[in-house]
Amino acid sequence: MSAEKNQAEKKPLRAKKKWEEWYDVYYSTAPQQDVRFYVELARNSGGPVLEIGVGTGRIAIPTARAGIDVTGIDLHAPMLQRAAEKAGKKQPGHGNLRLVEADMRNMNLGQRYPIVTIPANTLLLADNQEDQIRTLQTAAAHLHPDGRLAFDVFIPDPAALAQSQPEPLVWAETAHPDTGNRVVISAISAADAATQINRETQIFEEFDHQGRLAGRAELDVTIRYLFPAEVHALVEQAGLAVEQVFGGFDRSKPSHHSEEFVYLCRTATA
Ligand SMILES: C[S@@+](CC[C@H](N)C(=O)[O-])C[C@H]1O[C@@H](n2cnc3c(N)ncnc32)[C@H](O)[C@@H]1O
Repeated sequence: MSAEKNQAEKKPLRAKKKWEEWYDVYYSTAPQQDVRFYVELARNSGGPVLEIGVGTGRIAIPTARAGIDVTGIDLHAPMLQRAAEKAGKKQPGHGNLRLVEADMRNMNLGQRYPIVTIPANTLLLADNQEDQIRTLQTAAAHLHPDGRLAFDVFIPDPAALAQSQPEPLVWAETAHPDTGNRVVISAISAADAATQINRETQIFEEFDHQGRLAGRAELDVTIRYLFPAEVHALVEQAGLAVEQVFGGFDRSKPSHHSEEFVYLCRTATA
């Protein structure tokens, strides 16, 4: 087989499936305490909720099913499409789910909400400091004067980030939620301590029940990770104040064991 033919055969596999197709597979490997946390927050507020970076509706759909009106925004139309399809398949809840294509760095929905959320490290997808501040400012501009912004970010491990991972490292195996096929997820990554940028490629390989490769995708994710002190500074620059920090979705105290911090913020003048 010539190198050219090999490449031609590989290319469609690489391009075939995108994040909207693999996102729920990726998240099927993660604990879902965050869903419970954000749904409960929404329920306690009575809503409506604005979810920034709504993705495929992993949190927004159960929130709407709990009877809360949700507006979910996302930059990527295929993610919203997937969320709409999933919402259509589930039992209708009492809450209304509105999906809007918008950029979290500069959108204006012309509405304010008692709860605005940026779940699942989505703030870090704004991959420079200016865009992270803009995202927080945009969130602040959509808050009721006495509303709350909730978001989470993982706590970076400097030792782990110092080691680039140039060869794929398998980090999870899971069953595809639709097909039941075995999916192996590996990743390569490179972090730059100077810019706090981590570039990662997630590699998904799906094997059918005979063990044959049924699908493969390489999907890139670039984040700018944040240490807690900078989070506080960015929140303040956005005209917000940190009201509470939890060391996890169980609302525990932050500690050096915490893998993520969950922030509750209010407008600084309220
Ligand atoms: C990690 S996913 C979170 C999805 C969902 N909130 C959840 O918890 O499952 C991040 C989402 O943010 C979206 N996103 C990335 N950059 C964005 C931007 N500038 N504006 C709006 N959405 C963005 C991505 O398309 C993706 O759907």
